[in-house]
Amino acid sequence: MTDRIKVGFVGCGGIAREHMKGLAKNEYAELTAFCDINIVKAEAAAKEYGTVDAKFYSDAEEMFRDASLDAVYFCLPPFAHGAEFKAIERDIPFFVEKPVNLYLDQAKRIAEAVERKNLITSVGYMNRYRRGVQMVRDLLMEDPPILLLGGWITKTPSQQSNGIFTWWIIKEKSGGQFHEQVTHTVDLARFLCGEIVEVHAYPAEGINRNVPSGYNIEDASVVNVKFEGGAVGTIWASCSANAGGGGISLSVYAESVTALFTGWEHSLKLLRKGKQPENIPGEEDIFSIEDAVFIDAVKSGDPSKIMSPYSDGLKTAEVTLAANESMRTGKAVRIRGNH
Ligand SMILES: NC(=O)c1ccc[n+]([C@@H]2O[C@H](COP(=O)([O-])OP(=O)(O)OC[C@H]3O[C@@H](n4cnc5c(N)ncnc54)[C@H](O)[C@@H]3O)[C@@H](O)[C@H]2O)c1
Repeated sequence: MTDRIKVGFVGCGGIAREHMKGLAKNEYAELTAFCDINIVKAEAAAKEYGTVDAKFYSDAEEMFRDASLDAVYFCLPPFAHGAEFKAIERDIPFFVEKPVNLYLDQAKRIAEAVERKNLITSVGYMNRYRRGVQMVRDLLMEDPPILLLGGWITKTPSQQSNGIFTWWIIKEKSGGQFHEQVTHTVDLARFLCGEIVEVHAYPAEGINRNVPSGYNIEDASVVNVKFEGGAVGTIWASCSANAGGGGISLSVYAESVTALFTGWEHSLKLLRKGKQPENIPGEEDIFSIEDAVFIDAVKSGDPSKIMSPYSDGLKTAEVTLAANESMRTGKAVRIRGNH
């Protein structure tokens, strides 16, 4: 392998460009191949972030046949996965954005193939790399969590405010807000409090007014969860709160520790019995931090600092898809893979 990791991208949309921005400055990486079914996006990304001889493609198979790559980023909408098999066939380590997939069967087959090849993978749960999150995780090892509350409350998506408008508002493409977006909170819940073994969810549907054409996701949802250690939680989603007052929050309560995370950057207010409150601001450059860990792992062959390998990202998807099933059936759903 050369000194610099040759990186390719499958999907060159919004989040891909966030990774490209940081990777273009990473001294151990170079961006050499770009693929998007919309070739205009692939070409634009290649020109902006690629090496002078970077190539662009509209077909992933063609990219894998043509380009010699050390690592690949899959930044695809939840319904559009599957190209991971092409990387696995060629033993190429990969990073995949959350949620790993909309289809659990396909995700399980990808996980099995990754395991057979013992391939380095990383899933885009960047909040796991935050200092505040790590601190709370350590504290909760000693003082077990009892209650967790959190989620995302946002506005109605509009074409102007949301580049992912075309697939995000369609349940059959994104899986809905809980699966696509609140997956971050579910993943942190698992990271901080242990495995979720059962969910029971309720949707609010068809109440939100002035929704864009094609919108068929839930306006809101609440998902009650049980953790294997005995803790309980409620995790919520809303994309219908246009007067404000919502946002991103996650609160975890243990006997002697209260952890209050707020905002996209998950700034932490940490309360401990008998101690002064502490404020730990969330990192703004979290994608670069997460990407540097992945690139280092590929370079060294040591995945031990990766916080979310594919097999773990799959477990978070199992929880959010179980919540979707519960919303559909009205019944509690046991999560088989997680216990
Ligand atoms: N970690 C985070 O905070 C974060 C933030 C935003 C999005 N995401 C996730 O990243 C993923 C992508 O989201 P986005 O905002 O970049 O969406 P996007 O719509 O901006 O970009 C997706 C791109 O994939 C391309 N594409 C679709 N099918 C393809 C295929 N088969 N082959 C090649 N290209 C294909 C589309 O043309 C588009 O350019 C989603 O799963 C989303 O949940 C993560």
